[in-house]
Amino acid sequence: MSGHYDAEAVRKEFPAAERITYLDSGFQTPLARPVKAAIDRFLSEGLETAGPKSVWLDRVEQTREKLARFLGASADEIAFTKNTSESMNIAANALPLRAGDKVLMIQGDHPNNAYAFLNLRRKGVTVEFLSMTEVVNAESIRPYIDANTRAISMSQVTFHAGHRFDVESIGALCAEKGLYFVVDVMQAIGVVPIDAKAMRATFIGSGSHKGLLVPQGLGLLYWDKSRTELEPAYLAAASLAEVPADLIANPDKLEPAPSARRFELGNFNLPAIHALGASLDMIGALGVENIQNHCFDLGDHLIARLDALNVRLVGPRARQHRAPHIYVIALPAAEWLGYFEENGVRVSPERDGIRVSFGMFNTMADVDRLIEIIRRRGVKPSSRAA
Ligand SMILES: Cc1ncc(COP(=O)(O)O)c(C=O)c1O
Repeated sequence: MSGHYDAEAVRKEFPAAERITYLDSGFQTPLARPVKAAIDRFLSEGLETAGPKSVWLDRVEQTREKLARFLGASADEIAFTKNTSESMNIAANALPLRAGDKVLMIQGDHPNNAYAFLNLRRKGVTVEFLSMTEVVNAESIRPYIDANTRAISMSQVTFHAGHRFDVESIGALCAEKGLYFVVDVMQAIGVVPIDAKAMRATFIGSGSHKGLLVPQGLGLLYWDKSRTELEPAYLAAASLAEVPADLIANPDKLEPAPSARRFELGNFNLPAIHALGASLDMIGALGVENIQNHCFDLGDHLIARLDALNVRLVGPRARQHRAPHIYVIALPAAEWLGYFEENGVRVSPERDGIRVSFGMFNTMADVDRLIEIIRRRGVKPSSRAA
């Protein structure tokens, strides 16, 4: 039993987590029954009544509202995209960056964010990578800002070893220095509370197949609507302030929508957006702070048990610098991944070991099972803490 909600009851909504010890939500979460039900409903409607599309689109707008509340934003600041990479590329290409301008990023952070900005080197924009120290905050970044710096982009939580960067202080620094701030929240969303305004982000991008519980293929983009100078690199009827009623393109009316719809292109991934509506209800019913605290408790337990076994944790240990749900254990992936698989434990290989990542449905028993499996095999000196 969790101190924050009935985790055993939540677990019953994730049948895969009942069959295997699923410790891989940082890769993707298993499907939950209510999320599947939303997709099933869409499929049945398509099969039996072919829509109507207006009902499907109403659900898109309801989900947009829910998502906006979830991020502390307004609905007209939210666009639906395909994944994090698309959101980051939309953001990178909307920023008015020119030759000589500089963007700061974090070395070893997710490549799907980095490439969006590296691609701007074609325009003469420079990207400078700062090292991923245990603490990344305004003060660690301030010395690297110079007269050419125009933007900072990073993840809130790294996929690699669960560092949690202090995006609030970095957002404040960006506001102070007049820089754009673009944040990839893919690993944070659904587990770490996100407040777009407190973060003072210009753009926030994410996919939805981790903490948001929706299968791959749906992304989101938050855009600070006060930044009206930021325009989309691509245009479709859906992006316009005024869609021509006769659906004949009017070359004289190309003004983008005043809302984040300016960044949307064409039809939506309807079943995924409907599924997101259901998953936001699930997360809302538990409360994202409770999910965060539940995962922190699991993490504390994991760290204590690894310490007792004298096995090293890669990445930060302190709650204020670590993600609640992502931990890398210094066990060589090539030697351990197959062993975990044989023992019914799903984890991910990482550059410095085995990544364990929790979801809302994990329990202390999952951690104990993992530790017991490690203990049974024993570890080599290179994995020891001391
Ligand atoms: C921080 C981060 N960004 C992005 C992604 C994925 O990018 P995309 O949604 O484009 O597949 C991941 C993991 O899959 C991630 O951990």
